[in-house]
Amino acid sequence: MKYLKCFGLALLALALAIPATAGRRAIIPVETEHTALILAVRNNRVLETLHFGARIADPKAFEGFVTGLSEDNGSGPMAYPTTGGRYIGEPALHVKYPDGYHNTELVYDSHQVQVNGNIVTTKILLKDPVTRLQVGLIYDAYQKEDVICAHAEIRNVGAGPVQLLNYASGSLYLEADRYYLTHFHGGWADEMQMDGELLTHDTKVIESRRGTQVTQCNNPSFLVSLNADRLQENVGEVVAGALAWSGNFRLSFEMDESNRLNVLAGINSFASTYELDHGQIFATPEFIYTYSDRGAGQASRNLHAWARNYGVYGGGQVNPTLLNSWEGAYFNFTTETLLRMIDDAAGMGLEMFVLDDGWFAKDYPRNGDDAGLGDWEVNTAKLPEGIDYVASYAHGKGLKFGIWIEPEMVNPQSNLAHTHPEWVVQSPGRETYQSRNQWVLDLSNPAVQDFVFGIFDNTMKLSGNIDYIKWDCNRVVSNFGSTYLGSEQDRFFVEYTQGIYNVMRRLREKYPDTIVQCCSSGGGRVDYGALKYFNEIWTSDNTDAFTRAYIQYATNLIYPACVMASHVSAVPNHQTGNVTPLKFRFDMACSGRLGMELQPRNLTERERALADRCIRSYKEYRDLVFTGDVYRLASPYEGDYYALMYVSQDRRRAVVYTYCLKYQNRAVGAHPFRLDGLDPARRYRVTELNVDRSCWWGSGYEHAGDFLMNGGFNPVLLKTFDSAVFYLESD
Ligand code: DGJ
Repeated sequence: MKYLKCFGLALLALALAIPATAGRRAIIPVETEHTALILAVRNNRVLETLHFGARIADPKAFEGFVTGLSEDNGSGPMAYPTTGGRYIGEPALHVKYPDGYHNTELVYDSHQVQVNGNIVTTKILLKDPVTRLQVGLIYDAYQKEDVICAHAEIRNVGAGPVQLLNYASGSLYLEADRYYLTHFHGGWADEMQMDGELLTHDTKVIESRRGTQVTQCNNPSFLVSLNADRLQENVGEVVAGALAWSGNFRLSFEMDESNRLNVLAGINSFASTYELDHGQIFATPEFIYTYSDRGAGQASRNLHAWARNYGVYGGGQVNPTLLNSWEGAYFNFTTETLLRMIDDAAGMGLEMFVLDDGWFAKDYPRNGDDAGLGDWEVNTAKLPEGIDYVASYAHGKGLKFGIWIEPEMVNPQSNLAHTHPEWVVQSPGRETYQSRNQWVLDLSNPAVQDFVFGIFDNTMKLSGNIDYIKWDCNRVVSNFGSTYLGSEQDRFFVEYTQGIYNVMRRLREKYPDTIVQCCSSGGGRVDYGALKYFNEIWTSDNTDAFTRAYIQYATNLIYPACVMASHVSAVPNHQTGNVTPLKFRFDMACSGRLGMELQPRNLTERERALADRCIRSYKEYRDLVFTGDVYRLASPYEGDYYALMYVSQDRRRAVVYTYCLKYQNRAVGAHPFRLDGLDPARRYRVTELNVDRSCWWGSGYEHAGDFLMNGGFNPVLLKTFDSAVFYLESD
C-alpha cells in the first residue's frame, strides 16, 4: 500500500508528459544496451507494443508508425491485453466485476522512469475509465545483461470486490514470418527434455497444475526463434524468457490472424480465481525475457549474466564440492558410516559432506520413505551422538557440513500427522491420497509457514557447524484444499507458493550465508522464483552421466551452470542401469557444481586416484563454471557429440568439455569442434585435464585463438563415452 501511494504521486507529476496528439503515437522506450521494447500510446490512449528486438537509435521514429491493422478484426498489439473492448485473443488480464460484467479497457494514465545504476525502471499506470481498475506495468531493464523483467500490479479502486480470472505477468508481441518454439518437458529423472515445434495459428500452451513439484513435467521457460525452423546456437533472432514463479504456471503462444505472436506468461489461474477487495493490490511474479540476434547462445549468456548478478541467491559465488550420502548409503547408516564417508570425502579433496534423508524421527523412525516426515528430531537410536558430533567431525576434517530436510511434507506415520491433521492439504469427505507415502502440508496457512520456518531454524540449531541445507519436496498436490482457507479455496494454489516465499524471506533474513539447495525429487522446482532464495538446484535425481548430457544441456539454455548440481555416482547407474566410465562421469559432473554421491569405499585405488585428480583440477578452474560465459559447441540433441565451454569475462581463460555419445566408425578420426568466445588474436596454452594420456595432438602447446575457433581443435573421441576436458590460458 505504501509503495502504491508513492507510485501514484510520482506518476501524477509526469502525467502531463504525454499529451494525446492526433494521428501520432507517444513513444515509451524500454531499452537495454542492445535491445529495445518499444511501447507506444495511441491517440485513443491505448498502450501498444510496437517492437521487441534490436535497439533502435531513434525510437521516436515509431511516432508515426502505422500497423495497418483494421480494428474491425480486433484491437492492435496491446501491451497488456484485457478481456473487453475489441480484444478477442488470449487476455493477460480477465476481470469479472461485481455487476457480473467482464469488460476491461485500459488506457494510459501516466508513467515514470527511474534510473538505479544498471537498472532502468519504467512504471506505466493504466486505468479503466468505467470500472476504475488500475494496472501498473513495471519494466526493469538490466542494461548490461540485455534482460527485461516485467510484472503487473493490479489494483482495485472500485466500490466492490472484483474477481481476477486471468492475471498474467506480461505480454510480449513478436512479429516474424515463422516462429519456432523450444520448450522443456519431462518427468522424474528425466527433467528438462528439449522439445520444439514450428508454431501454427492459434494457441500453444505450456503449463503446470501440479501445485508442488511443478517443473518436473514442464518448465516455465522457452525460446522462440524468429524466421527459423529450428533453434540455432549462433545465428538468428531468438527471444528467450522465463517466469519467476514456483507454483502453477501458464505460458501461452498465440499466433493470430495477423501472424503476430503474443506470448503471455503468468500464474496459472486454474482453480485460482483471485478475489481482490476494494483497495487491494495483486502483484504478479516477474516475466523475464531477452532478445538475441546471435542465436540461442547469446540469449543464454544474457539470461545467465542476469541470473548471476540478480536472479540467483548468491549467484556467481563458488559453492563447495561435496559428497552426498544418498546414493551411497540411502537410509542405511550409522554414525560410523557417516564418519568414514567424511574421511573419504576429505581424502579425495572434497569440501563438504551432506547428510541426506534418514537422520530424524524417533517414534516413527525414518528408516524408509514410509515414516517420520514431520517429526524433525534426531533419531538417536541411529545416531546416538547426535548431529553436532557428525558436523563437528566434518569440520575437524576441514569439510563443511550439510543436511537434508523436506519441511513441506508429512508421513501419516508421524506424530505431526496425529497432532495436526488439519495442516494437511485435503478436501472434506474425499480421500487424502498418499504419494511416496506422504501428504503435503498446507503452506497457505500462516501457522504451517511458522512450523516450516521452525523446521529449518531448529535444524540449524542442531549444530553450530551446519553450512548447507538440502530442501526437498517429493510429491505433487492431489485433492487440493485447505481447512484454513474455508470457503476461499480459490486462493489455495497462489497462497501456497506465496507461503513458501514468506518462509524463505524470513529464513534468508536469519541465515543469509547458509547455502540452500532447491531439490524437488530432483528438478521439480527449477525456476527463477525459487532461485531468488536458493543457491542451487538438484538438477535431477538422474545421476547417469549419459542422460545428464541431455538434461544439463537443456537446463543450461535457461539457467546458469553455477546453479546446476551434478554428482558422480556408482555404476550400473541406480536410475538408468547405464554403465559409463568414471572419467566420463567426472567430466560430465565437472561442467556443473561438482559433487559425488556414492560409497567411496567401493572405489578401487585407481579410481580414487582419478577422482583425486579430477577434483583437484576442478577446484583450480571452477570459477569459470560459476562465473564464465557459456558457449555450446555441439548439442546432444542434434548429433553424436556434446561439447561446451566456459570462458572468463576477460577471455583469457576457458575450460572446454567434449563428450562422445555414440560410437564412431574407424574412418571418422579426429572430430573438429569450433571453440568460441576466445580472443582470436590471443595465444592460449591448452592442457588436457583428468587423464594420463591426452586425446588431442595439440595438448600441452600454445595455439592462436583464431586457430582454435576455426577447426584447429580436433580431439579423437571415437568410443561411446569417450570424453575430454581442456583448460586454456593466455598471458
Ligand atoms: C529425492 C531427492 O531428489 C534425492 O536426492 C534424495 O534426497 C531423496 N529425495 C531422499 O528421500
